[in-house]
Amino acid sequence: MARRKLVYEGKAKILYEGPEPGTLVQYFKDDATAFNAEKKATIDGKGVLNNRLSEFFMNGLQRIGVPTHFIRRLNMREQLIRQVEIIPLEVIVRNFAAGSMAKRLGMEEGTPLPRPIVEFSYKDDALGDPLVPEEYIIAFGWATQQDLDDIVALALRVNDFMAGVMHGVGIKLVDFKIEIGRVWDNDFMRLIVADEISPDSCRLWDIETGRKLDKDVFRRDLGDLADAYTEVATRLGVMPKNA
Ligand code: C5P
Repeated sequence: MARRKLVYEGKAKILYEGPEPGTLVQYFKDDATAFNAEKKATIDGKGVLNNRLSEFFMNGLQRIGVPTHFIRRLNMREQLIRQVEIIPLEVIVRNFAAGSMAKRLGMEEGTPLPRPIVEFSYKDDALGDPLVPEEYIIAFGWATQQDLDDIVALALRVNDFMAGVMHGVGIKLVDFKIEIGRVWDNDFMRLIVADEISPDSCRLWDIETGRKLDKDVFRRDLGDLADAYTEVATRLGVMPKNA
């Protein structure tokens, strides 16, 4: 079998050269990492679940007019995506205080925020993805003011969509992270949602019981991560066969 050219290997995914120029194959691994890869494990079936869940969310976003990198799923663990130039920012949207925000501000986790808050971290593993103000982003040329305005608008549309979909299946969208890429269509630059949207990059709490159905289950040793992701996939009707 011909070996594909590896383009990039991250903590949870691998990117290979795609069949046509401007495309990549995104492979979802079973590896889970937390605390900047200080904690690691292999969770059987996680890659299959995240491949399906990311497909589900990206397809839903495209249907409401939010552009994403997703083209089509290829198999249980792989999807065809558009190649983008990733903006080196983690775009985080929060509806309730949790995680690093709750810690930084001494807030109780679950406190509702007055409105959705969008924040940016600089993508750099060695630095632990530090929170950065817009001023830094513009001064260092990672994005322009116009890009940031567009990114905030995109992130809030993703939030509305994701919060609505989750609410429909009894899950509270506490917060999530997305990544944004640039693509050029006929010399016209567009910003699109890239990377993945999955329980690895969201905080999802059951509305009734508060049960965590996201990567905090792994980060905080709260039980079986694959069970939690399967619960999300089952409620959304995207449970893969033979996962
Ligand atoms: O840790 P923190 O509270 O800043 O995370 C906010 C949200 O962003 C969480 O849903 C978390 O899963 C996600 N996140 C991520 N990748 C990171 C950092 C945060 O997906 N490197």
